[in-house]
Amino acid sequence: MFQEKEISSVNSLYIHFPFCRHLCNYCDFHKKVIGEKSDVENFQKYLANSLTLHQDLFAQNGAMWAPIDTLYIGGGTPSLWGEKGIAYLVNLLDRYGINFSDDYEFTIELNPGSWSKTDLMGIKDLGVNRVSVGVQSLSAKTLQALDRIHNVDDVYKTLDCLAGLDFNFSVDFMLGLPKEKSGERNISNEVSEILSFNPSHMSAYILTVNKNYIHYNSLPDENFVSDEYLTLSRLMTENGFNHYEVSNFAKPGSQSRHNLKYWRGESVAALGPSASGFLKSAQYSGVRYKWKTVESPDFAIEDVSRDEYKLERFFLNLRISDGINLLDYVSEEKIYEVKSFVDELNLQGHLTSPVLEKFSLSPSGFLCADSITTRLMSYI
Ligand SMILES: C[S@@+](CC[C@H](N)C(=O)[O-])C[C@H]1O[C@@H](n2cnc3c(N)ncnc32)[C@H](O)[C@@H]1O
Ligand code: SF4
Repeated sequence: MFQEKEISSVNSLYIHFPFCRHLCNYCDFHKKVIGEKSDVENFQKYLANSLTLHQDLFAQNGAMWAPIDTLYIGGGTPSLWGEKGIAYLVNLLDRYGINFSDDYEFTIELNPGSWSKTDLMGIKDLGVNRVSVGVQSLSAKTLQALDRIHNVDDVYKTLDCLAGLDFNFSVDFMLGLPKEKSGERNISNEVSEILSFNPSHMSAYILTVNKNYIHYNSLPDENFVSDEYLTLSRLMTENGFNHYEVSNFAKPGSQSRHNLKYWRGESVAALGPSASGFLKSAQYSGVRYKWKTVESPDFAIEDVSRDEYKLERFFLNLRISDGINLLDYVSEEKIYEVKSFVDELNLQGHLTSPVLEKFSLSPSGFLCADSITTRLMSYI
């Protein structure tokens, strides 16, 4: 089965660091409160053992490491791992013969309130060259409602320190937060405050929670959130950022190279509890694996067929501004219907390009990307 596939070489790696100082009330990611020093030591042992298992996975699929082009440490709160943790990781990779390319991107997520300047200087020396900061909001009341441990002042201190250390950094920002409707936030002021620190990138996520969420009844309605999203998109674009993916903005040349690999269906290996990796084969199919959230490393593996891969690429490519060739996907007898749907979307302002060979969504199209994708899939 998998052995028949020829996996191309792999040059991207995601590491999941599963600890935080405190758990925010809206977060669904795999994490727990960091306790004893032994928590991190056990995690490091887990990582070393999982890398051994991962080598077997590569061997079974004929995969090889190429020098690392992108490495991303997410969480959880990986800034808590600190300089010692990053040094451990870099050594571990080296022991397995995994080197870095000349022009690699090495990102770590950092929470305001969970870092030290010494660690930041140390990880910079170790090769980290991009930081993703979990700002989320610059409104004290919404940060409190989210149960974040950081306050607005911590954000300023963090961005100030990163700018002072000349770090390339991105900010995570959230929309549609509790209590916003009472005029708690001024998105325009928040954006200009953040941009004054000169980030190269922003990820903006609309809060998604289930009905049991503690603040479910004080969330803004859909129209409010849509306006907020379009306002943010306009402000970022006016300030020289490209809205290059549904939730992402970048200055020219500063897109997240790591995340682009996911959106473009490239191979990305993964380590750490709950992390999911994908190995693309030369035949445009592949293997997906997800690490179980258990004490000793183990993963579930799934074969991705050529058709499944094609469908996933379709879904993901619609979310980025590169443009997609619809003619590669839709069936010939449905072309007329597709054209009329594309004209309809274009009239509604949902497209930046209505050309079937390079179809791409505008910010308002990004907002309804799911329903547009579902409709287009009915023409495949
Ligand atoms: C898993 S978090 C890790 C980053 C870091 N620990 C933090 O919280 O700042 C990655 C990002 O996902 C976003 N996120 C987390 N939970 C979310 C939710 N329920 N809905 C939308 N975005 C969410 C936040 O913007 C967060 O920065
Ligand atoms: S700090 Fe980040 S990862 Fe940790 S609980 Fe909060 S949102 Fe989730």
